[in-house]
Amino acid sequence: MHDTNDYLSLFFEPIREYLEDDTVSEILINGAAQIYIERKGRLELTPQRFISEPALKAAAVNVAKSVGRLLNEENPRLDARLPDGSRVHAVIPPLARNGTVIAIRKFTKERLTIEQLITFGSITPEGARLIDTCVKLHRNMIVSGATSSGKTSVLNVLSAYIPDNERILVIEDSSELQLQQNHIVGFETRKPDKNGNGEVTIRDLIHSSLRLRPDRLVIGEIRGGEALDLLQALNTGHAGSMSTIHANNPHDCLFRIETCALLSGIDIPLSALRAQVASAIDVVVHTARLTDGSRKIVAISEVLGLKDGEYQLNDLYAFKIKGISPAGMITGNFAGCGKHPSFLEEAGLMGITLDPEIFEAG
Ligand SMILES: Nc1ncnc2c1ncn2[C@@H]1O[C@H](COP(=O)(O)OP(=O)(O)OP(=O)(O)O)[C@@H](O)[C@H]1O
Ligand SMILES: [Mg+2]
Repeated sequence: MHDTNDYLSLFFEPIREYLEDDTVSEILINGAAQIYIERKGRLELTPQRFISEPALKAAAVNVAKSVGRLLNEENPRLDARLPDGSRVHAVIPPLARNGTVIAIRKFTKERLTIEQLITFGSITPEGARLIDTCVKLHRNMIVSGATSSGKTSVLNVLSAYIPDNERILVIEDSSELQLQQNHIVGFETRKPDKNGNGEVTIRDLIHSSLRLRPDRLVIGEIRGGEALDLLQALNTGHAGSMSTIHANNPHDCLFRIETCALLSGIDIPLSALRAQVASAIDVVVHTARLTDGSRKIVAISEVLGLKDGEYQLNDLYAFKIKGISPAGMITGNFAGCGKHPSFLEEAGLMGITLDPEIFEAG
């Protein structure tokens, strides 16, 4: 087998420098003549181009081949992971109007640490302490946010707070998390082969995991019916589990979980489902990529349950935008929201000191 870089550069000569440049996080190809990259959260148009649409399409088809899949008239979309862990999504014409469209999310060997997030101004030490406390107290946590807002990075940080003496089962579509504890059992889903056989889904792996005596489940991302399996797992034990979901704010996160659970095809009345979500999920950590390109943990919210059929959420700690500097940078600060977490006392009993002052409205 080729070394990944050799192999990639063979088909992707025009973007080789970006594949090799660790400061580039994404490469976006919109047909042969337009290539954007993302650096430090900002998009830049590059001067590079592929020599022709057939050359670009051939590159995409070869990526598909290399992972044992097809990209053709009949299968015009490809979701793949390269051997180095980078994620590729490609769509070919006529579905893609610009010519072949490819997005490459580069695999970052180094996962961000909480110290780095603090240095970047993505969270404060107080916010980090609150997150640590939620993990140590076995709260079930969901990291929500838009595409590329930093959910997986934050999930990785959350999981790093899990004590070393617990058995952690990790389930992912493509392995991105890097847990450092001793007792980790990791699983990865499998796409169906060319004939549509052999698929293993997150749902299947949750079922297996529950028979493998997990203390905690860490699930890369909830996108569909597996939400229901996760809710049922959480409501029957396994406290302290965590996952991510695509959502616009903490409230929306809970609705998204409902919607995904409904995709399971299992008939369950909405009121019952809502009760399951409210009791399964304890804390939502919401991430965002702001207009200046910075990524932040913009809210840490506690789910208090249901009242008159509506979710009750308390923001505990949040980033408040004050304005935009002339250079286009967002200014603001992290502060409490005037509500104490319900687990303040429990934290004290466990020997974790949380300064109540950080929750005062700022
Ligand atoms: N706080 C941060 N500061 C700077 N860069 C960050 C931060 N968080 C994440 N990143 C970078 O942003 C990119 C996207 O992060 P990540 O994969 O965690 O996002 P995501 O929300 O999980 O994306 P997706 O929706 O595709 O799953 C990565 O290159 C990551 O290294
Ligand atoms: Mg992710």
